[in-house]
Amino acid sequence: MYGHYDLRLVALSIAVAIIASYTALDLAGCVSSTTSSRRKSWTWLATGAVSFGTGIWSMHFIGMLAFELPTPIAYSPLASLLSLIIAIIVSAIALLILRRPDLKLRDLIFGAVLMGIGISSMHYIGMIAMQMRPAIRYDATLFVASVLIAIGASLAALLIAFQLRDKRSKLAILAKLASAGVMGLAIAGMHYTGMAAAHFAPGSICLGAALGRTDNTGLAIAVAACTVTILCLTLIVSALDAHFALNNAKLALSLQKITRELHEAQGKLVTGARQAGMAEIANNVLHNVGNVLNSVNTSAGLVSSIMRDSKSLALTKAVQLMNDHMADLGDFLANDPKGKVLPGYLNKLSVAIAAEQQSVITELGSLTKSVDHIKDIVATQQSYSGTASLVEPVQVGDLLEDALRINAGSLAQHQVTVVKEFSLLPLLLLDKHRMLQIMVNLISNAKQAMDCVRDRASQLTLRADIAELADGRRLRIRVEDDGEGISRENLARLFSHGFTTRKNGHGFGLHSCALGAKEMGGTLTAHSDGVGKGAVFTLELPVNVAMALA
Ligand SMILES: Nc1ncnc2c1ncn2[C@@H]1O[C@H](COP(=O)(O)OP(=O)(O)OP(=O)(O)O)[C@@H](O)[C@H]1O
Ligand SMILES: [Mg+2]
Repeated sequence: MYGHYDLRLVALSIAVAIIASYTALDLAGCVSSTTSSRRKSWTWLATGAVSFGTGIWSMHFIGMLAFELPTPIAYSPLASLLSLIIAIIVSAIALLILRRPDLKLRDLIFGAVLMGIGISSMHYIGMIAMQMRPAIRYDATLFVASVLIAIGASLAALLIAFQLRDKRSKLAILAKLASAGVMGLAIAGMHYTGMAAAHFAPGSICLGAALGRTDNTGLAIAVAACTVTILCLTLIVSALDAHFALNNAKLALSLQKITRELHEAQGKLVTGARQAGMAEIANNVLHNVGNVLNSVNTSAGLVSSIMRDSKSLALTKAVQLMNDHMADLGDFLANDPKGKVLPGYLNKLSVAIAAEQQSVITELGSLTKSVDHIKDIVATQQSYSGTASLVEPVQVGDLLEDALRINAGSLAQHQVTVVKEFSLLPLLLLDKHRMLQIMVNLISNAKQAMDCVRDRASQLTLRADIAELADGRRLRIRVEDDGEGISRENLARLFSHGFTTRKNGHGFGLHSCALGAKEMGGTLTAHSDGVGKGAVFTLELPVNVAMALA
């Protein structure tokens, strides 16, 4: 018994095979573990296996429907379902192989043989679904040829899909289309070779056909429509996925760029901050050394004026007079009017020279202290870059005396009365150098504020005590002056870097003092009742931690 083909359905089956092949080639990229995340690639594997499997199966099923025998045919649903499941498993195997990052020849051949046998099983189980009696006989050569074609088609499909899987360019799409054509024809070729191998005995009947004749064309179109819809949907989702993946990649790239730029900006800021910090420290050193140098200058000026007006010149003259009368020195001292006053004069001279010497020694002492302070300032600056702890036991009274001494020259010059109100305080653990710098700055500012007061004598008061405040015990040092005072408006800006009202000022002193106080855990505050009403600066430091030998 011979059958014949409905060529329209044959063409439809080939078209379905080609579309299914294209879908498989397209999905190979989605399942690839090199381009997709693990979870996503598994999802794509499941989707791909169902759509590619349905594609191959419906090609086969439409091919069966295209075959018309002179007896009514119906298909066993169970066997048809089994053949569909086999097609899906075969597709899953193919996509599993394509998931691998590299394709070894051994895996390729093993996979192709497995797929070929799978596709053949699907086909021949599909034939069993026809339930022909007597059973269909197969031509051995064509049967083997159909299996070999299935293996060959699978081999080609795997190779092509692996080559094209990660490519999405226009050229790659063309290559996929061409390859899908070849693959589709190969799959259809297997099917029709398998059909050619089948021999139907004359008078064969289909057992299932008793249920009624099926309209093959309608069924074929329905299957094809469902399959093509599934395949198209899969392709659309795959295209969207690729589109989003591309967008994500672009986003990730720009995010990376922004992050890099932010890092660079941060680096520049850190460098800038460090340079600014270094400049600030340098500024601090220069400012404080400058303050102390004022006092060095005053002391040096005093010493040089003492030396210039020194009584030692008069001594030289007196000695000269004695040398001139060396021959009759006794007579000269007893009878000459100049000689008679000479011993008394020499006496007075020795007292004056001794006093001169004493003031030179005092000034040199103050000069040495100032030079030592300059050394301290430089050492403090150096300790910023090291780890040295700057805290040491300090007698606050001595420290205030030192600060006054450093400013002594200019205070004396402007005839400022200094009032000291600091009783004996316990030894405290303090950052001595920083404290000294703050006090020298405050005293120097107070002195400058009093410079403009010319109509009356100025007074500077230094107070120090330990106060019991709400937040604990605090060392409190006050520097009070009766100078030009501070307006309410300026009071608010006093500690800002660069704020100055003085012609030669830098606006650095109070800023660095406030920072210093903060670093010691304390505060520096200012108060003034207004212009012309003097000012009070209060430094408060915690003593509970600074207590050394109470
Ligand atoms: N005792 C004070 N009485 C009145 N005004 C003061 C007093 N101390 C500071 N000021 C005001 O605060 C400003 C800032 O003081 P700061 O010590 O920071 O800078 P400066 O003395 O002007 O300059 P420099 O940086 O050289 O010390 C001063 O210009 C002055 O206007
Ligand atoms: Mg100042």
